[in-house]
Order: sequence, then structure tokens, then C-alpha cells
Amino acid sequence: MAETLRLESWVTAREALRHRDLRQGLYDEGRALMDGVIVNLHGAPHTDRRRLENRLFRRDTFAYWERELIPVLLEESLAIHREDTSEIDIVPVVRHAMLRLAASVAGLDIGSDTSDFLRLAGLMARLSAASTVVHATGDKAAIIADGLAALDEVRAVYLAPAWDRREALIRDVRAGHRPESDLPRDVLTVLLAAREEHGLPSEVIEREVAYFPWVGSHSTSIALVHALHHCFEHDAEKPGVLHTLVDEPELLQRFVHESLRLHPASPQSVRRAVTDGQLPTGDRFAAGDTVVIDMVAANRDKTVFGDDADRFDPSRTIAEGVAPWGLTFGSGFHACLGQELAGGLPPGQSEGDRLLGAITVMISTLLERGARRSSTRPPVPDDRTTRPTWRTYHVVFEDRFDEQGKTR
Ligand code: HEM
Repeated sequence: MAETLRLESWVTAREALRHRDLRQGLYDEGRALMDGVIVNLHGAPHTDRRRLENRLFRRDTFAYWERELIPVLLEESLAIHREDTSEIDIVPVVRHAMLRLAASVAGLDIGSDTSDFLRLAGLMARLSAASTVVHATGDKAAIIADGLAALDEVRAVYLAPAWDRREALIRDVRAGHRPESDLPRDVLTVLLAAREEHGLPSEVIEREVAYFPWVGSHSTSIALVHALHHCFEHDAEKPGVLHTLVDEPELLQRFVHESLRLHPASPQSVRRAVTDGQLPTGDRFAAGDTVVIDMVAANRDKTVFGDDADRFDPSRTIAEGVAPWGLTFGSGFHACLGQELAGGLPPGQSEGDRLLGAITVMISTLLERGARRSSTRPPVPDDRTTRPTWRTYHVVFEDRFDEQGKTR
């Protein structure tokens, strides 16, 4: 009978994430939406897909986005969500800023129509809930059915026109009517151009393109709100910290990395054994067994992060060979493709421009605008999922917003 092996230590967690005989197991319940999607592939098909898509995730592109694009997307999102009140729920603000970016990485052409964009955001929330249904607290069959209905709508409204446009461009390039540089740099274009050679069915391309907007925006916004919370808590203990963080982005990035360590996007990773095997640490598994990796416990392993590993301490010394965010971006062959986009690089690892990551850049922009935690509308945890996240998190803009809520 299949057994479940539970791993809590840093070293076993990392080895399991990197083990070739353990396939992805987190999306088995949500397979109707995740079948054939990169994070759910194993072995050669995964390596093949990763090679195709890796070329889109370039450091020079991330550096450009950090400088030029992300602050603008955040401002635009703030403008959409500014209510009559001066208190703004920051959760949808940052989610939607990242969604614009991630949708363009995916290859969905989003125009300037706000209601059109908000419709996409609603669909992505339903897709995300259905794909990660393993963590849902509600009626799972209903959540999956709703996700499939959302995918139908994404296909009809957003994917079909983007698909047709790209196929026409690819035809033109192949016929020599256009230069290759006319092709958009996105997942949809890459997959359409490779579909015959790599045998990619249309349904797989659809699911893959639908995956990127929500995975890129949801994990990042959840992580951002956790980190912002730590900034506010720290400032409550040591008033003035928020100003220092605006002046010192490297310090802010340390806050972000420490927060990422304490709050991995998924509290557990799940793998299934494809054959009998063993971890280098000696733990054995048999074909069909489930391996549950406790990411929270691994990231708080005292033998790696010290006796106070549960505590938020951005000045903690990190051992060599260990990322300051722990295993929050995964490790090995499924390691997050968006890691540098979301988290940047630790000091000393960037060549050329220093990569701070979207989370640091957005928090810096918010604090610079005078964002402070609302004293009248406290943050509300999300009870619709066992993933620890904030459902709402209201902030006020103390210094920089006038009475109409416009930036001064
Ligand atoms: C704070 C933000 C983020 C966190 C914490 C995060 C976390 C993760 C983790 C843990 C994995 C590995 C899953 C596993 O091993 O089972 C992963 C994979 C992935 N992430 Fe992220 N992610 C973030 C942001 C992003 C962004 C911004 C993008 C893209 C726009 C992205 C795209 C991906 C993709 C495509 C994979 C699958 C890689 C593969 O299977 O080869 N992520 N992410």
C-alpha cells in the first residue's frame, strides 16, 4: 500500500525537491487545469518545456522592468483601486500590478480597458483556486468546475485573439515578410512556434498560457503583503524604520527575503515516487508513495537558520550555499522561473544592474508614497484556503496623498 513520507528538515526537503524519481504531486487534484503545464511535467518533457521558456526569463529584461515598468504598473493599479475613502486594500492593488506583467509574459494582449482587465483578474482568481484545490477548505468539485468554466472564458475572450495574432506573425516571419524581432517575447509565441517540432497539443498550450498570469501575480502579491506586514510590525517596534527602508533598498530587500523565508507560497510541496528510491539522507520511498515536504518547517530548520529561526530577523547571518529566502522558490529542476523577477538577487550576485526584485521595488514605491497600516480597518486573514494569506490589508497614504486620494 502506498505510504506517505513527511519531511521537515532543510536537508531532506531540498534533496526531495531535487530528486529525479519524485514527480510533482501538488496538482493531482487540480489536474483538469494543470495537465501538461510545466510545473506538473516530469523528466524529459519537463526539461524540453523548460528549455523553451527559459529564454524569456532574462536578467536584462528583469532589470528593465524593475526600473521602467513595475513602478508605473503599481501607480496605474493604485489609481484603479482608489476608492472614495483614503483607505486602500493593498491586496488587489499589488496583485493586479503583477497580473499585468505576468499576463504579458504569458502572451495575453491586455488593452487599456479597465473593466476588461478586471474581468481577467476575476477569471485568474478562479483558475488559481481550482488549480491549487488541494489546499481549498470549500467544496472541491464545485471549485474545479468553476475553474474549468473560467478557462473556457479565458480561451474565448483573451486567448483566441492573442493566438490568431501570433500565428499570423509567425507565418509572416517564416515566409520572410517580417524580421524575427517582430515576434512578441512571450510564452504563447514560444509555444506556438515550437508546437509541431515539440508535439504540443492546443489544450496544453492553452493551459500553460492560462497558468502564467495567476502563478506570477498571486504568489508575488501574497509574498509582498507578508513582507509589508513585517515592515509595519518592525516600524511599530522601532519607529522610523519605514523611512530607513525607503532610503536603503538593499535593507528593504533583506526584509523581503527574510519574510519570504518565513512565508513560503505553498506551506507544503507534494511529490509522488515514480519508482522505488532513496534520498541521499537515507529516507526510502517506494513507487507510488507520496512525499510531503513541509516548506515552513524546512525554512525554519534551526540547524540551518539558528535557534531563533522562527523569528523575523532581517540581519540574520545566512550560511553559505543557503538562499536567504530558504526553499520558498523551490530547488532543482522545478525551481521558480520567476524567482529573480519577484525576489531579485542577493547582494553580490547581480552583474551590471542590481536586481532588487518586483516585491522590493513595489514596497519601496508604496512606502515612498507614505503607505501606513490602517488603524481602523485591521488586516483580515484568508480562511478560504489553508495557504496562509491575507484576504484584505488596508493601508492609508499619510504624507503623499491629498484629500481626494490623488498623489501630490
Ligand atoms: C514571490 C513570488 C513567487 C514564489 C514564492 C514562487 C514560488 C515557486 C515555487 C516554490 C516553485 C516550484 C514549485 C515546485 O517545486 O513544486 C515555482 C515554480 C514556478 N514559478 Fe514561481 N514563484 C513566484 C513568482 C513567480 C513569477 C513572478 C513567475 C512568472 C511570471 C513564476 C513562474 C513560475 C513557473 C513557470 C514555475 C514552474 C517551473 C518549473 O516547473 O520548471 N513564479 N514558483
